[in-house]
Amino acid sequence: MNKKRKNSQGLVFVTGGTGFIGSRLCLELLRGGSSLAIMCRSQSIDRLKRWIELLPPSFEKPKIIKGDLQAKGLGICQDDLSFMAHEVTDVFHVAAKYHLSMSEEDSRHMNVEGTEKILDLASGLKYLQRFNHVSSIAVSGDFQGVFLESDLDKGQDFPHPYSRSKFLSEKLVRDSSLPYNIYRPGAVVGDSSSGEINKVDGPYYVFKILHSLSKIPGIQKMPMLVPRSNDEAFHLVPVDFIVKAMAYLSGLGNNVGKTYHLVDPDPMSFREFYLATLDEMGFTGPRVPRPVKRLLRLLTKPKVWPLSKKVGDAIGIPAELMPHVLYSVTYNATNMLKDLSESEISCPPLRDYLPILIEYFRASLA
Ligand SMILES: NC(=O)c1ccc[n+]([C@@H]2O[C@H](COP(=O)([O-])OP(=O)(O)OC[C@H]3O[C@@H](n4cnc5c(N)ncnc54)[C@H](OP(=O)(O)O)[C@@H]3O)[C@@H](O)[C@H]2O)c1
Repeated sequence: MNKKRKNSQGLVFVTGGTGFIGSRLCLELLRGGSSLAIMCRSQSIDRLKRWIELLPPSFEKPKIIKGDLQAKGLGICQDDLSFMAHEVTDVFHVAAKYHLSMSEEDSRHMNVEGTEKILDLASGLKYLQRFNHVSSIAVSGDFQGVFLESDLDKGQDFPHPYSRSKFLSEKLVRDSSLPYNIYRPGAVVGDSSSGEINKVDGPYYVFKILHSLSKIPGIQKMPMLVPRSNDEAFHLVPVDFIVKAMAYLSGLGNNVGKTYHLVDPDPMSFREFYLATLDEMGFTGPRVPRPVKRLLRLLTKPKVWPLSKKVGDAIGIPAELMPHVLYSVTYNATNMLKDLSESEISCPPLRDYLPILIEYFRASLA
């Protein structure tokens, strides 16, 4: 039986609380009765204040800590540092720059050196009980096979600087002497009950292409190329599930040092996702199976890659997405399944909420 330590929690210091995942995580933590101090860049403070004003009156208003991962010493003022040193018991490091085509230098500054600075800050917190680090399944790079939650360095290479930076920042957390938990979400999609999301990313590029195509008269009855056979798992996970899971797991008493894959334990393959999306978007023509993987492999070969990048840039879709559809990796989620087993939190099957994601995309993002 998992021992809860929730009531021994003091103040939770959160980075990235204004972002897609972080803002929902903050809501979930507040809903559970936590007190929050949210680190925020000066240019985002007004937005955060407006968000705080809209919180239900029963929620404790979070304290705002002005800070920037790229500033020396995080740019946090001495008063706030002294206050936090005695009050913060839990840290949630969510902030990171997330862009598949970001440069090596940018990803190192923000994600690796940024994590180093947050770890430094955390090591000065007198009553720190837990350092929660939001990592990503991207740490597995080009590894193929079964990737365990305890695995990190398997000699993998990385398809882009972002995934390398997530690997390096996770390594810093593991090498620290802090009581940590690490969460590795899959590719995060909108809320499974409302579809809500604020950006087009990952699978949303498929929605975008098909939505644009659907405007061509008659095309929905035309034959459509589809992957020939069931291919690699497509590791999508809804945002509401991951924030509930993180809020719950961070409050357990006996799980220090554990890493969690926050993934769908029974993921659809890319082919299944694509076929279901075609159905949902009204493409009724015949399906023409083709070796799509072979084509993607060709497009990611070093000689062809510069051209693939140019085409991707021209149509507004990062070419760096392609390798992810090619890696055959299973994210073993034993820790996640075991430690969530006493809760009511589980990842819903994508088939159930895909129509909701597409509906939201059509209404708000297309
Ligand atoms: N989205 C996914 O599919 C996914 C999947 C796996 C893991 N993750 C991880 O989840 C975390 C959150 O991702 P997200 O999708 O929520 O990203 P996001 O929406 O882009 O949010 C990024 C957050 O980081 C903050 N930030 C950016 N630059 C900063 C700086 N210099 N100093 C301090 N804060 C800064 C942003 O603040 P502003 O509001 O001021 O810009 C924002 O709060 C990241 O660690 C990411 O690697 C994401």
